[in-house]
Amino acid sequence: MSRLVVVSNRLPLGDSPSGGLVVAMEDALRSSGGLWVGFAGEPVDEPRDGLQFHPGARFERASFDLSRQDYESYYLGYSNSILWPLCHGRADLMRILPEYIEGYRRVNARIAELLVPYLRPDDRIWVQDYHLFPLAADLRARGVESPIGHFLHIPFPGSADCAAMPNPPELFEWLSHYDLLGFQAQRDVSNFAESARQLADFDQIDDGCYRLSGRQVRAGAFPIGIDTAAFIELARHAPDEDRMRFLTGAQMMIGVDRLDYSKGIPQRFRAFHLLLEENPDLHEKIVFLQIAPPTREAVEAYQDIREETEHLAGRINGEFATVNWTPIRFIHRPMPRNVLAGLFRQARIGLVTPLADGMNLVAKEYVAAQDVSDPGVLILSRFAGAAETMADALIINPHDPAELAAAMARAMRMTANERRRRHAALLRGVIEQDVGWWSAAYLDALRQG
Ligand code: G6P
Repeated sequence: MSRLVVVSNRLPLGDSPSGGLVVAMEDALRSSGGLWVGFAGEPVDEPRDGLQFHPGARFERASFDLSRQDYESYYLGYSNSILWPLCHGRADLMRILPEYIEGYRRVNARIAELLVPYLRPDDRIWVQDYHLFPLAADLRARGVESPIGHFLHIPFPGSADCAAMPNPPELFEWLSHYDLLGFQAQRDVSNFAESARQLADFDQIDDGCYRLSGRQVRAGAFPIGIDTAAFIELARHAPDEDRMRFLTGAQMMIGVDRLDYSKGIPQRFRAFHLLLEENPDLHEKIVFLQIAPPTREAVEAYQDIREETEHLAGRINGEFATVNWTPIRFIHRPMPRNVLAGLFRQARIGLVTPLADGMNLVAKEYVAAQDVSDPGVLILSRFAGAAETMADALIINPHDPAELAAAMARAMRMTANERRRRHAALLRGVIEQDVGWWSAAYLDALRQG
């Protein structure tokens, strides 16, 4: 069988906080084997030539170095100050500088250059996410003819947002060099087709098959999953309830997110404030644990969010806390996955309320972690890709504090029967469409090209 070569921005080597991509790729490669190439994590003064190999995983891992200048323009700049806000409906937060686009092109070309000597003719190459849109074009320019697929872990912007990026046709030119474009949700496939129709040379040939900039490209939705069986086990054997002493008889509501403006954390806090204001009977009965490790702190748009959330949490605690009860616990550090699994299992409510999100794997982890005989309730934003396949959650609009507070109150009072019925339906989906299903479905489609 041909070898799988995964290329992503981040290659996890230490214990940096993991986003959905890292968790999914680790799970996928652990079962199929192959080579994973990515950035080592910290920029350096003198980047080494070539790839550095790291033994010790069930698949091969190779990293490349980035200079400080490249890190700033390619990662902090074009990727996270232009593409990330654009794809998450926040074109107003973009910071467009010419050196960002130059750095993004330069780093992608360099990654292609580093990769080519290690490629074999029958490899399948799977490029991950928005940091690496130009990589297929750069590999093709160096004579690579293997199938190359792309998977976008974040939302694809609609045509109005796409038009706000610098030089929109270039994005579609990059994408046209892939054989298969994978998206998280149907809405992303529709946004891609609609944006391409308006901004590029684009025609539909067939269902899921298009002509883009003169080349044939296929596109489809492949909703990403988790390693469900492993997560269920992790939650069952999670650290004991001793850790939950702070609950003192109250129910826990949990949120776990990177501290990102797309995650809707302030909106969530405001809704919680409203819940406590309107439901005095819930005082001392509910504790909201929000875990939000900071990321991308060097990017300007992230600098206010920590202060805003700390301020809101402080205000709520100041207003409602009693000697025996702290309504919000806000933790700014990453937590080991097994501890998270145990916390999810204990939590009566899982809060996943982003303003925009590709999929959101926390929603799936929360469901997998529950005790089937006494499960908790998932509150899920309609703007998470997960909402397309998790209709049995309480689906809410995260912008509307009254709607979100009402869902929290409803979840607190929901009968065990209704909780079990909703959870069983959700769990079925999370088991069926796990990460193995996702990578197999994507790689089968890539093979059929
Ligand atoms: C999202 C992106 C990933 C990224 C992760 C963590 O899930 O889709 O590509 O790796 O966030 O972000 P970071 O910038 O810390 O790698």
